[in-house]
Amino acid sequence: MSSQFYITTPLYYVNGEPHIGHAYTTILADVLARYHRLFDDRQVHFLTGLDEHGQKVSQSATERKVTPQQHCDRMAETWKEVWYKLGISNDDFIRTTEPRHEKVVIDFLNKVYEKGDVYKQEYDGWYSVYEERYFTEKDLVDGKDPICGRPVERRKETNYFFEMSKYQDWLIKHYEDNPDAVLPAFRLNEVKGFLKQPLGDLCISRPMSRLDWGIPIPWDDDYVTYVWFDALINYFSATKTPPVGLKVDWPADYHLIGKDILTTHAIYWPIMLYAAGYEPPKHILAHGWWLDKSDARMSKSDGNVIEPLVMAEKYGSDEFRYFVMKEMVVGQDAGFSEEIFVQRINSDLANDLGNLYSRFAKLYHQFGWSKYKLSEEKWGSFSTELAERAHNLESVVKREIEALRPHAAIEEIMMLIRGLNQHVEHLEPWKNAKIEPDKTALAMLDVLDALMLVAELLVPVMPAKMALLKQWIDDDVHVPQKTEQLFPRIDMKKLKLESAKAEKSDNPAEMTIDDFAKLDLRVGVVTSAKKAENSDKLLVVEVEISSEKRQVVAGIAGSYSPDELIGKRVIVVSNLKPVKLRGILSQGMLLAAGSGEEIGLLTLDKDIPSGAKIH
Ligand code: MSP
Repeated sequence: MSSQFYITTPLYYVNGEPHIGHAYTTILADVLARYHRLFDDRQVHFLTGLDEHGQKVSQSATERKVTPQQHCDRMAETWKEVWYKLGISNDDFIRTTEPRHEKVVIDFLNKVYEKGDVYKQEYDGWYSVYEERYFTEKDLVDGKDPICGRPVERRKETNYFFEMSKYQDWLIKHYEDNPDAVLPAFRLNEVKGFLKQPLGDLCISRPMSRLDWGIPIPWDDDYVTYVWFDALINYFSATKTPPVGLKVDWPADYHLIGKDILTTHAIYWPIMLYAAGYEPPKHILAHGWWLDKSDARMSKSDGNVIEPLVMAEKYGSDEFRYFVMKEMVVGQDAGFSEEIFVQRINSDLANDLGNLYSRFAKLYHQFGWSKYKLSEEKWGSFSTELAERAHNLESVVKREIEALRPHAAIEEIMMLIRGLNQHVEHLEPWKNAKIEPDKTALAMLDVLDALMLVAELLVPVMPAKMALLKQWIDDDVHVPQKTEQLFPRIDMKKLKLESAKAEKSDNPAEMTIDDFAKLDLRVGVVTSAKKAENSDKLLVVEVEISSEKRQVVAGIAGSYSPDELIGKRVIVVSNLKPVKLRGILSQGMLLAAGSGEEIGLLTLDKDIPSGAKIH
């Protein structure tokens, strides 16, 4: 067995912000990585990152009137911030625009080119900008992209092709010999089914004249590399230049992906590696989709996404992690409903776990159990069934994690918690501590001991809250105040009221936290300002947000001279659709109060860097 466990997430496109689908893959990878750190002797290496090239990213940048690199730099900060807030413990974060990646892609391309696996050909086909790939006439469904249903356009161009077809037999044999290379098994069957048809070759270039946002093809300046050929290589390139002090070996143990990107991972990628002389990944694990109430896939373009940060800020990051891990069986689809989410927090976390601890903590001090010592016989006071459950829990959780069933591992832990609650009910310590003090105290110390085990085994799922619980237990069983409950109960009625109010509010200004989260408010520094030529009221202000310059037209000429604005740290609504005001482009809005000659701009009283998010 290798001395390392290497797990990856897909590289997410930077054309949007993370939604529940992205958050799920990343949380799943994090939970698996953390369990392996807990149980495994091997060194764990967890990689995530961003896919920054290609037409979609280039288009997003154009829409926002920034360069693709500026767009990527800004989005990278957003993605990193979300992962940080969700407690993601990745060891490395790779961006495909980093030189360390580009260099390996170039080497890789040269290798397959020199081997004779690349040829140039004119191609005439249907191109889907959304999927960034060509389809043949017969692939199309109702004349549209067969994957996403979007329109396609006819394109005729000369490109470089990678001769994948040459390796089809090798791949078929590889999957015969390694039946766990694609998981779950039904996904391997899908891949095998796909391999029954002759495999086409892969178009791996895009003409510069059409798209220049990519890694140049090393032997031909007129082309850049196709985004998928570039992005897949990240898993390998990251092993060449890991963060200081780390060593990572190829191949990866697990590539975690969603089912929609199975072909690229289970067909293109192993063949690319094999052609270049490297081993294929050990396992590709494809999970299902998060669906909305009408069972449609949640996706940004369909506008039905759940934003992980909104959920995490409203209910807690650990609570969100817990829910998505418990609710989805890896491989299957699952529905997300805020109501069910809240119900789960209340029943599993607030009631079963949180209450068990706080009730215990009160009694512990009330009856002075700190002077007792845990009995020699571990969990000797438990019923045979409960003791067995506690004794076996660690190995059962380990087994479920190895079988990629985190929902089942969590359920096993919850079953112990429920068993402990029943045990306490049965013991009636509040009464029996007075009648049989020693026996009751010892039995309750067994409960505490089991709670510590629960906390340890749930750390990978809820790292912050379980670290706190362990600390409270270690601090001679700290009694949480009302305001610092481990998992405060969420008042469903109040919540329902809130959403109902938001829906049919008499006051249109009233909004929920979700509405507020739609605003992207950023700190901007004014770098220049001038009067608008055809207006007395308008100033044309240039603000810098991170490295990006924006032009904003503001009606503040009556209150500010252009010069006095320079250097001010203002608040910009940065995700407003650009508009033309009196024929001048305005890419955002400055927040201000007052009217006429009494307008005051909102500014910051500290030197918070430009680009910082207002929250
Ligand atoms: N950039 C490519 C991956 C390149 S990997 C070398 C990509 N990026 S993505 O941002 O569009 O999507 C990344 C992941 O999010 C995929 O695994 C996809 O399945 C997942 N999800 C997107 N929407 C989803 C749901 N509604 N539910 C669950 N996951 C889904 O594809």
